Amino acid sequence: MSEKATLNLDGKPYEFPVITGTENEKGIDIGKLRAQTGYVTFDEGYKNTGATSSGITFLNGEKGILRYRGYAIEDLAEKSSFTEVMYLLLYGELPTAEELRKFENQLTQHTLVHEDLVKVFEVFPTGSHPMGQLMTQLSALSSFYPESLNPQKSPDQLNLTIIRLLAKMPTICAMIQKKGKGHPVLYPQNRFDYVSNFLYMTFGNVTEEYTPDPVIVDAMNKLLILHADHEQNCSTSTVRIVGSSHANLYASIAAGVAALWGPRHGGANQEVLEMLEHIRDIDKGDVKKVVAEAKDKKRLLFGFGHRVYKNFDPRAKILKVACDNVLAKLGVNDPLLAIAKELEAAALEDPYFIERKLYPNVDFYSGLIYKAMGFPTPMFTVLFALGRLPGWVSQWKELRGKNEDIGRPRQIYTGPTLRPFVAIKERK
Ligand code: SDX
Repeated sequence: MSEKATLNLDGKPYEFPVITGTENEKGIDIGKLRAQTGYVTFDEGYKNTGATSSGITFLNGEKGILRYRGYAIEDLAEKSSFTEVMYLLLYGELPTAEELRKFENQLTQHTLVHEDLVKVFEVFPTGSHPMGQLMTQLSALSSFYPESLNPQKSPDQLNLTIIRLLAKMPTICAMIQKKGKGHPVLYPQNRFDYVSNFLYMTFGNVTEEYTPDPVIVDAMNKLLILHADHEQNCSTSTVRIVGSSHANLYASIAAGVAALWGPRHGGANQEVLEMLEHIRDIDKGDVKKVVAEAKDKKRLLFGFGHRVYKNFDPRAKILKVACDNVLAKLGVNDPLLAIAKELEAAALEDPYFIERKLYPNVDFYSGLIYKAMGFPTPMFTVLFALGRLPGWVSQWKELRGKNEDIGRPRQIYTGPTLRPFVAIKERK
């Protein structure tokens, strides 16, 4: 017999079905609540609201668990590659060697962007934020590929629209960095794999041969895998709600980039670096003062806290080790790392943070690795978007595949009740 939840309203009992997921998560299906009771639920920030059912990523915030299609993030970060994880997220299974080769070859064939897209960079003022440029370029893709406006026309059309986006994203991201430096852009080289190609286009230059350092290629794969999906976070929910209006994929992803830009979300990785530099330069390394100010709500400790993880973010654990390894292998001795570790230790032993379950999140260490690799701080959230892209696309594809209803939440109105219109000459 299926489980039910009973709600007593105005002395009358109402029953609602309980749904149970494959990891035994339970939800009360209130799909008929308003029709039966006239009530809506109220849940600002959707802290208790399941917006959809999804088979892509599983999080357990209390236990610090993260899995993509059932595979533990620790295994994927250690043993997989970013293109293999892309395939897993998109198609639901780890690819065979032949399937992966074909997928990677498809990506390689679509890495170039239209030359007129390169011209779009000329309108950006020097120093304009890379995330604003990325949003513009991604929405512009729908102009260069009008067939993407109707991606559901056929499975092949949908797959080509997806492949084009995944393949061109590294090219666009690398161009943003190159243009930011006033350097000539480098075109993708088919001899490189996906991540090496991105590093070549970003750090190579026209004056000499460039082969990406294997240490950086490995670290970049790991960083992109760790950022690849994270169930219904703010930017993914944005992609899904825009997709639910049947907007095209490129417009939906551009909306996700907009949401990710926020400092409370993906923009935090840039904020963390700037916070650590502030602690070094302005606070003179006084971490205790910084923690005290955070407790007085005078400042946020960027890179700490999470809506779901009320234990260590498993990605932060992996990135903390990777940060030590990459900086050591690159021979980078960054005093900001010592400040980060001191800040983490101070926060983790302070009752304020312990009570609120504020642990380092994915953004706390990632920026230190990006900096050691040579990325300028404003590029950090672009790198988050590069990693999150296959997750956004997979979630969008899942929603469209289920033909979910358009997302349209209700509200509780708190404005003025009905009042008569007053002609302007009578207004005081
Ligand atoms: C990402 O959702 C995802 O999955 C996101 C993400 C992904 O992969 O997509 O994991 C990526 O966005 C990670 C989060 C990056 N953001 C930051 O590092 C910014 C700093 N963190 C905070 O803005 C905050 O922790 C949030 C937004 C991440 C979570 O906010 P919540 O869950 O709404 O928690 P809250 O704001 O209600 O805070 C609870 C308490 C409050 O204090 P009290 O009112 O109870 O006294 O904790 C305090 C907050 O003031 N608090 C912090 C804090 N975060 C929360 N105090 C100091 N520093 C912080 N970072």
